[in-house]
Amino acid sequence: MTATDPAAGPASGDGAEALRQRAVDALIAARERTSTLTSCVEEPDLTAQHSPLMSPLVWDLAHIGNQEELWLLRAVGGHEALRPDIDKVYDAFEHPRAERPSLPLLPPAEARGYVADVRTRVLDVLERTPLRGGPLVDAGFAFGMIAQHEQQHDETMLITHQLRRGPAALTAPPPPGPPANEAALPAEVLVPGGPFTMGSSTEPWALDNERPGHFCDVPDFFIDTVPVANGAYARFIEDGGYDDPRWWTPQGWAYIREHALVAPLFWQREGGQWLRRRFGAVEPVPAQEPVLHVSWYEADAYARWAGRRLPTEAEWEKAARHDPATGRSRRYPWGDADPSAEHANLGQRHLQPAPVGAYPEGASPLGVRQLMGDVWEWTASDFLAYPGFAPFPYREYSQVFFGSAHKVLRGGSFAVDPVACRGTFRNWDLPIRRQIFSGFRTARDAAREGRR
Ligand code: AVJ
Ligand code: FE
Repeated sequence: MTATDPAAGPASGDGAEALRQRAVDALIAARERTSTLTSCVEEPDLTAQHSPLMSPLVWDLAHIGNQEELWLLRAVGGHEALRPDIDKVYDAFEHPRAERPSLPLLPPAEARGYVADVRTRVLDVLERTPLRGGPLVDAGFAFGMIAQHEQQHDETMLITHQLRRGPAALTAPPPPGPPANEAALPAEVLVPGGPFTMGSSTEPWALDNERPGHFCDVPDFFIDTVPVANGAYARFIEDGGYDDPRWWTPQGWAYIREHALVAPLFWQREGGQWLRRRFGAVEPVPAQEPVLHVSWYEADAYARWAGRRLPTEAEWEKAARHDPATGRSRRYPWGDADPSAEHANLGQRHLQPAPVGAYPEGASPLGVRQLMGDVWEWTASDFLAYPGFAPFPYREYSQVFFGSAHKVLRGGSFAVDPVACRGTFRNWDLPIRRQIFSGFRTARDAAREGRR
């Protein structure tokens, strides 16, 4: 396995001090984002539930601190519980999101005080904990895991902001467009068949479901060079896509009929054109931007209408990581370097996806673009354990979600931080979900012809 498993990421080659600094930086960056997301609205907007799909923002805030307390203060640091009384309130498995507004939540000022108090002590623990000697501390794993957890909730909180009614609370500059004067990109790219290394056993902060690295044999296939754009998706709508059961799985058809879905979430038809609501502003749907806020059912139906299909998770990862020149799997499409602003639209720097064809520096060896960033990409695959999977450090991160109920999303959206996405990173959700920053690209078997 080690022969083609990616060379350990930069972090694992770092010395102890560099590793510690990496962990401190990741925790601080996450907290800056959490602060932005919870200070840009007034108190009533922190305690309100803006959608039954989401928690009140103030629940996410204290939950972030509570997970940090559990794993970094108690498990790593050996501390006594600071607030054992609130553990149950902030346990995601005790209370579904719809129930959370009626819980005895810490009010905003107390929640802020709690997370700050936990953090002060955590930085102390980090300073005196050797980052080797067990799986929780090796390479700073638990610290990286908690920074990722906070960033995951920061994406969740940004979804809550998108669902919230009222004027925008957040703004950001638009992302870059595609390079000027570039020849048209090919619509699709051939990924030659053969085995590649999927997942990783060496990426230091990879979560349990990304492990272990293993060979996976994938036959030849074609995959879209860029994600499916709004303009193409609108043609599916105009062609009667939502009125034709031929394109839908039986479950998908039943769902869109029952809920009278006719377009992606946040779209509305006005004066002969599609408009969308985005962080409080209503604007024309940009034809060149990747489609956003579609369910797996919609992505799957579009692909069938187009004479294509969603890529499997293995196909997606091979397109993103396999380097045909060396046979190695890269950490990211562009190589092993951590993401920078030239590679991908990540980290809430821009509050929308970049137009298709952007980020040439982020292309894979075969020229596939925008695999990381912009939109999470639905795959055809159920969320399942890799061969040799072991739950770590808790079953409720991944294991309890394995099975046919959840579909895998790959890549990462404009809303996710680089620390919480990688070529191996696996996200998952129910096939009905579309408040998430989800889009997709399509694929086809190499043996068969046809493209609309
Ligand atoms: C991996 C994004 C599906 O938000 O439900 C957060 C991440 N796990 N707290 C989620 C997570 C526990 C998870 N996803
Ligand atoms: Fe959580």
